[in-house]
Amino acid sequence: MRCSTLFVALSAAAGVLATAFGELPAGVPRNVHEFRLKHPYKSNGGGSDHADGQRPIVKIRPSRNATDGVADEFLKGLHKANHGGTLYLPKGELYIIDKPLDLTFLDDVQVHWDGEVKFTDDTPFWQANAFAHPFQNSLMFWKWGGKDIKLYGEGILNGNGQRWWNEFAGLEILDPDNEYLRPILFYAENATNLEMEGIHEKDSPCWTNFIVTSKGVSFTNVIVTAESNNASSLPKNTDFFDSLNVEDVTVERVWVNIGDDCFSPKSNATNIHVDTMYCNGTHGQSMGSVGQYAGEKSFIQDVVIENVWLLNGQHGARIKTWAGPDVGYGFVDNITFRNFWQAANEYAAFLDSCYFNIDASTCEQYPSQMNITNILFENFTGYTSGKYGTAVARLTCSANPDAVCDNITFKNFNITSPCGEAVIICDDIRGGIGVDCVPSNSTEATAALAATCTVPQATIAPPF
Ligand SMILES: *[C@@H]1O[C@H](CO)[C@@H](O)[C@H](O)[C@H]1NC(C)=O
Ligand SMILES: *[C@@H]1O[C@H](CO)[C@@H](O)[C@H](O)[C@H]1NC(C)=O
Ligand SMILES: *[C@@H]1O[C@H](CO)[C@@H](O)[C@H](O)[C@H]1NC(C)=O
Ligand SMILES: *[C@@H]1O[C@H](CO)[C@@H](O)[C@H](O)[C@H]1NC(C)=O
Ligand SMILES: *[C@@H]1O[C@H](CO)[C@@H](O)[C@H](O)[C@H]1NC(C)=O
Ligand SMILES: *[C@@H]1O[C@H](CO)[C@@H](O)[C@H](O)[C@H]1NC(C)=O
Ligand SMILES: *[C@@H]1O[C@H](CO)[C@@H](O)[C@H](O)[C@H]1NC(C)=O
Ligand SMILES: *[C@@H]1O[C@H](CO)[C@@H](O)[C@H](O)[C@H]1NC(C)=O
Ligand SMILES: *[C@@H]1O[C@H](CO)[C@@H](O)[C@H](O)[C@H]1NC(C)=O
Ligand SMILES: *[C@@H]1O[C@H](CO)[C@@H](O)[C@H](O)[C@H]1NC(C)=O
Ligand SMILES: *[C@@H]1O[C@H](CO)[C@@H](O)[C@H](O)[C@H]1NC(C)=O
Repeated sequence: MRCSTLFVALSAAAGVLATAFGELPAGVPRNVHEFRLKHPYKSNGGGSDHADGQRPIVKIRPSRNATDGVADEFLKGLHKANHGGTLYLPKGELYIIDKPLDLTFLDDVQVHWDGEVKFTDDTPFWQANAFAHPFQNSLMFWKWGGKDIKLYGEGILNGNGQRWWNEFAGLEILDPDNEYLRPILFYAENATNLEMEGIHEKDSPCWTNFIVTSKGVSFTNVIVTAESNNASSLPKNTDFFDSLNVEDVTVERVWVNIGDDCFSPKSNATNIHVDTMYCNGTHGQSMGSVGQYAGEKSFIQDVVIENVWLLNGQHGARIKTWAGPDVGYGFVDNITFRNFWQAANEYAAFLDSCYFNIDASTCEQYPSQMNITNILFENFTGYTSGKYGTAVARLTCSANPDAVCDNITFKNFNITSPCGEAVIICDDIRGGIGVDCVPSNSTEATAALAATCTVPQATIAPPF
């Protein structure tokens, strides 16, 4: 059955829900093609195809076939283009990267990226030879760093993740007996003024971008997808964005169809602005997780995330802080989630102070040591999936008297549940949240969580 026919059938079965649920508001792109039409990528070059026509252009030999690695040429090209030039990867050409590259020497360089850069999928080779970062067992194919780096074009950065997903199937990266590291498609460290524009980041084995100790980072008109051809090994942990220690990050107009967080800065992030993201099948717009490592301070502050469409995923706006016997401390402060449209996500807003998978009694015994202050959830519309019944949002703050949860506010929050009248659950928040909410141990919360139902997936494919 064609998607549209299936959807009509399901909508009809859902009866009265058919008009309220399952349709995107007008003008929202439903696939990569519509995204490009709505947010066309254009290089801003004066009279040239290149962003700055005055820069010397460097070209390198493309790969002749899928095993013909050109990592050495890529490195040489960047050395040559460094200090004022542009490495040009023309459309239709393929560049296979078959060994790790240290690209931390960059200083005023651009890559005009219309072709495809693709990593080999020799998993044993990368496991043995790639760079590593201790944070959550990360592994990096390459490292970008330096200053004034601009990567732009309509090309592809391909992580060739299928073999990794097949081999990871059933494993958790953080399991102590899992020998796989967490391969990252794009890693930057110690970068100042790093821009990525237009590029399609495709099929990352794990996290798509990981940015460490950097300042002035932007992603604009970027497309991020991770799609498996194997139903028993779906992409996992393929977050669009993770970071440690970053300042001044901008994300504007990004399409994300992957299998984990849509956007999730981790420890030490300041001044973050996200405007216009489309996230299908993700775990949401997440602050953190933070506070994971014993004795370590971490924080996230001064964040605005606005104009976001989230469909068919886990949660919508989310804050996650670790609890347990050996965790860190710190704060999450001054975060605004504004103008969120959601369809068929589990909780539209979720503050989880019992991360990661800590059961209620352990969380009570070892509550999170993170303060959470000045958080605004404003102008939320749409509906949940019904997985948590009529509960549409859940805010669980730490029960630790030294970890305050203060000034957390819902304003113009209009998320409905397909199962009945919406309920918001909240625990341990000082002064309320500006709208009615019930504690998780109340009879109202128990009844809300029990009233589960289902809705059809929100369609994002165009009518065929
Ligand atoms: C791929 O290209 C390389 C370099 O030209 C060549 O040595 C190799 O034989 C080619 N492999 C295949 C399978 O065509
Ligand atoms: C970070 O980059 C700056 C210049 O951009 C350099 O001076 C410094 O040594 C780098 N630090 C590390 C740890 O690589
Ligand atoms: C699909 O993934 C499963 C689980 O890892 C694996 O056993 C199987 O070989 C994969 N199928 C193909 C065609 O690669
Ligand atoms: C959107 O995400 C859902 C859930 O992961 C997935 O089943 C569906 O195929 C995605 N839609 C598209 C068009 O990729
Ligand atoms: C975060 O900042 C604190 C100091 O405020 C520092 O102690 C900690 O090491 C930093 N964490 C990371 C991951 O950089
Ligand atoms: C809160 O964060 C926003 C966005 O970064 C910033 O403009 C504002 O000054 C911050 N507010 C305070 C009180 O620091
Ligand atoms: C958490 O808040 C309390 C009360 O305001 C304050 O004493 C403490 O220093 C804060 N902790 C951090 C890590 O900011
Ligand atoms: C509460 O937080 C909001 C930002 O979310 C801020 O604008 C407001 O000033 C804060 N109120 C108080 C009393 O601190
Ligand atoms: C709230 O959303 C509506 C409809 O999407 C929009 O017109 C309005 O400007 C938004 N309000 C704010 C404060 O952004
Ligand atoms: C809430 O949203 C529903 C549709 O999702 C709409 O019918 C209703 O008017 C909205 N309520 C408010 C107060 O905006
Ligand atoms: C719910 O838990 C709070 C403590 O968090 C307790 O004071 C209250 O009595 C409990 N209510 C019920 C109905 O168990």
